Amino acid sequence: MYDGLAEFYDLFMQDVDYKSWCDFVVKYLPKNGNGVDVGCGSGAFTFELAKRGFDVFGVDVSPEMVNIAQKNARKEALKVDFAVKNADELKLTTKVDFITAICDVVNYIKKPIDFFKNTYNNLKDGGVFVFDVSSEYKLKKILGDNVYTEERDNVLYVWSNSLYKNRVEMFLSFFRRDADGRYTRFDEEQTQYIHNEEDLAMLLFEAGFDSVQTFSESYQTVEKDSERIHFIAKKGKINGEIS
Ligand SMILES: C[S@@+](CC[C@H](N)C(=O)[O-])C[C@H]1O[C@@H](n2cnc3c(N)ncnc32)[C@H](O)[C@@H]1O
Repeated sequence: MYDGLAEFYDLFMQDVDYKSWCDFVVKYLPKNGNGVDVGCGSGAFTFELAKRGFDVFGVDVSPEMVNIAQKNARKEALKVDFAVKNADELKLTTKVDFITAICDVVNYIKKPIDFFKNTYNNLKDGGVFVFDVSSEYKLKKILGDNVYTEERDNVLYVWSNSLYKNRVEMFLSFFRRDADGRYTRFDEEQTQYIHNEEDLAMLLFEAGFDSVQTFSESYQTVEKDSERIHFIAKKGKINGEIS
């Protein structure tokens, strides 16, 4: 997962507005805090946090994505460290103020309880965990059994999905047009698991979190047809607040 795709990830994610996404997230993070961006991918969100003065490092299960994140950090002249780590096994020696897992990371985890428990243990009291998922609605009704294709620069992809009860299996083929006019093909298979809002909130409480808030893709109340659900989970009671 995320090996064949790594080379093309930034090309096809260039329309994602990480700036606004980060503007939303930082409202919930402890000021001047330190943290970890889990499932950092090529680092786009990690860099947004670093540019806003947060002390952050990125981890991802894919060595290819970490490699690209390190290259991007050098290009951007940002001092951000990255490491290959599985979210399920992340045990920090020093607790942090926040942990983020941005853009579907939790959809790749079949049973997120271990990740949530480790995240809780890795946070200081008052710490915040921010993540999002593609909603049940999006995975079942939009991505479902669909096929997508798109061409950008010299790369064309064909992305075909198969919907099952608890997951969408995704098959992606990238065709890169090389200088001699021939195409090189790269295949990628992924599974995204369907998690609903209530189940994830229950798992967060089971992991120990004291409050959970959710927002839609437009950072408003979650509706039946919201495609993304953002979760803000807090460890410890901040000003006695519990949602
Ligand atoms: C859609 S990408 C998002 C990347 C990045 N957060 C962003 O916003 O561009 C999902 C990322 O989650 C990573 N990932 C999936 N399962 C993971 C796991 N168990 N532990 C750590 N990273 C994981 C993938 O390798 C991939 O880089």
